[in-house]
Amino acid sequence: MSRKVINVALLGLGTVGTGVYKVLKMQQDDMEDKIGARVEIRKILVRNLKKAAAKIEEPELLTNNWKEILEDDSIEIVVEVMGGIEPAKTYMLEALKAGKHVVTANKDLVASHGQEVLDCAAENGRDFLFEAAVAGGIPIIRPLKQCLAGNHLSEVVGIVNGTTNFILTKMTQEGMEFAEALALATRLGYAEADPTADIQGLDAGRKMAILASIAFNSRVTFEDVITEGITHISAKDIRYARELGCVIKLMGLARNADSGIEVRVQPMLVPQDHPLATVNDSYNAVFVKGDAVGDAMFYGRGAGEMPTASAIVGDVFDIVRNILFHCTGRISCTCYKNIPVKEAEDIESRFFLRLHVDDRPGVLAGIASVLGNNNVSIAQMIQKHKDGDLAEIVVVTSKVREGNFNDAMMIVEGLNAVHKVSSVIRVYGGER
Ligand code: NAP
Ligand code: HSE
Repeated sequence: MSRKVINVALLGLGTVGTGVYKVLKMQQDDMEDKIGARVEIRKILVRNLKKAAAKIEEPELLTNNWKEILEDDSIEIVVEVMGGIEPAKTYMLEALKAGKHVVTANKDLVASHGQEVLDCAAENGRDFLFEAAVAGGIPIIRPLKQCLAGNHLSEVVGIVNGTTNFILTKMTQEGMEFAEALALATRLGYAEADPTADIQGLDAGRKMAILASIAFNSRVTFEDVITEGITHISAKDIRYARELGCVIKLMGLARNADSGIEVRVQPMLVPQDHPLATVNDSYNAVFVKGDAVGDAMFYGRGAGEMPTASAIVGDVFDIVRNILFHCTGRISCTCYKNIPVKEAEDIESRFFLRLHVDDRPGVLAGIASVLGNNNVSIAQMIQKHKDGDLAEIVVVTSKVREGNFNDAMMIVEGLNAVHKVSSVIRVYGGER
């Protein structure tokens, strides 16, 4: 087997960059036999040289000058782990045009500008790989693009944000309210200092845009994804969900139907017997339905230094093999269709509704009549608890077009007997 050195540059030495540095060191003795070459880090781009110097054994690798990397022809692969859109996008495009291959973990960039970077990679016959951008250490991009290429996929559904899964797990298992569970997640380092992108469903939305594009061979950008966070979920909703045989999870759901693609991230009641209901703490999982494979599930660590680095180094090794076998640029953009993305009101869902209403005869009948007049069929109803002078009722609907459901709710909210619509949460599965 040929013995050669492939030089790599890291852009960024934060959580993920440090992980990549460590994993490459851990692989040092194996990599020549494993992939036919030795991968060496030749330069690392950071902003703060002093801070970064404390993290590695060879501070001479550090630079704060991108041109030193771009103009170094001995560097064949650039690993972008800085984050953000700019200057990351410019650096990636410049690297590809200069004949370098690019690996990234940057879901924000891939979800909104993936097409531009993939086109640039294809024009230059270079590889652009981003396994770490979705669900960290879990292999899912390569399985979708390669191992499952013999399928028409109808659904990709997953728990793709660890922070919110940790929070919902604590709310479920320990009865915490959202604020308490978020504070714990922050204390334990699961939630970032600014947790907005996680708790508002934006981080998961970016990952679902990428998954939907690959699964359905049609470009979906982050801007197409319907997103809703978990800040309004209460411990009480979780208790009612349990009575209904469900847990509440922040679900990323992408479906491909004749009428178009639907892609959304929303908290949903998930039946306890569904495999995703058992995915707890900060773990992620992605569940795929294909016409040949049937159901397949991928489970593991969706973030963190070493799991994310595991995915990145896998991409780097793949590119090294392609370089050695002169077949780079082999798998580029796989979006060869142009399927429309559905508007929110045309999507069909089941709903869990929690209402505070007057406790007197005829109130339930009034609500049922409004729902019925708008083609919203009631599948289940619970009236168990009194909340002060008011009755608390929970309604679960059958599958309904969201536009019809919203029309019905406008009227329900205006009924004199209805004091508050306390929760509206979608229900996954069991559609009929
Ligand atoms: P991080 O800890 O904040 O590290 C960012 C690094 O990039 C720092 O070394 C920073 O240097 C450097 N950097 C930022 N802007 C730069 C610029 N303009 N020029 C030079 N260096 C720059 O971030 P991270 O958590 O490692 O995340 C990196 C990427 O991986 C992001 O795209 C993120 O979405 C993705 N990702 C992260 C995880 C995870 O678990 N953390 C999981 C999956 C994907 P200074 O410190 O000198 O500013
Ligand atoms: N903040 C993300 C999460 C990890 O909680 O899953 C990076 O994608």
